[in-house]
Amino acid sequence: MKVFALILTAASVASSAYAHTIFQQVYVNGKAQGQLVGLRAPSYDGPITDVTSNDIICNGGPNPLLYNSSVIISAAAGASITTEWHHTLAGLDPSDPADPVDPGHKGPVITYLAKIPSATQASVTGLKWFKIQQDGLDSSGKWGVDRMVANKGKVTFTLPSCIAAGQYLLRHEIIALHAASTYPGAQFYMECAQLQITGGGTKAPATVSFPGAYHGTDPGITFNLYWPVPTSYTIPGPAVFTC
Ligand SMILES: *[C@@H]1O[C@H](CO)[C@@H](O)[C@H](O)[C@H]1NC(C)=O
Repeated sequence: MKVFALILTAASVASSAYAHTIFQQVYVNGKAQGQLVGLRAPSYDGPITDVTSNDIICNGGPNPLLYNSSVIISAAAGASITTEWHHTLAGLDPSDPADPVDPGHKGPVITYLAKIPSATQASVTGLKWFKIQQDGLDSSGKWGVDRMVANKGKVTFTLPSCIAAGQYLLRHEIIALHAASTYPGAQFYMECAQLQITGGGTKAPATVSFPGAYHGTDPGITFNLYWPVPTSYTIPGPAVFTC
């Protein structure tokens, strides 16, 4: 077992140098909004690892944000949202075994929303986030990331139908756990999309802050992906808000 674990560790270290990913397109009810349209995205696809840093909100910092779209994507409360991830900003590349991400970067896929005065404003600190989607480990041993990879980078979920109309940021995230047995080690990949939510209702979800919602000691952040072979996983952050 020791030798096997060493090989796995060496393989994950070798691949982690290049096998990153960026959330780079939004679809509303199946309609593509355009590459990097309505998104804040870095040119470098590397992860954030410090959960106490402001870079855990919408990326930035070591991966400077180079694509700050001026577009705000319109979507009705209750609409179906599809996100699309790829290894690099070159987009879909069937010849790249690490597109949309290295298949060894297993972990959950998680999505939050936060109301914001203007979805294109530079400042993203102090927002109140609520979780609207999560996909962790299922009983067959498949992860949210496995399903995203099988789906060629796409993840689909719905916006809550009961939240207030207005401008929001959508924080969509993957946590890759291949090096998460000690903290820092888990790799957080996230970008924020800019939304104008129409319709909706008056329900006010309970919220959390970023940074703040995650801690290095969370069982879903310090986690051994390899041994013992995991049969359960506690997704970090609050419960998913439901109407
Ligand atoms: C994009 O916006 C962020 C703040 O959200 C800022 O730090 C960064 O410099 C901006 N990038 C460009 C190219 O304007």
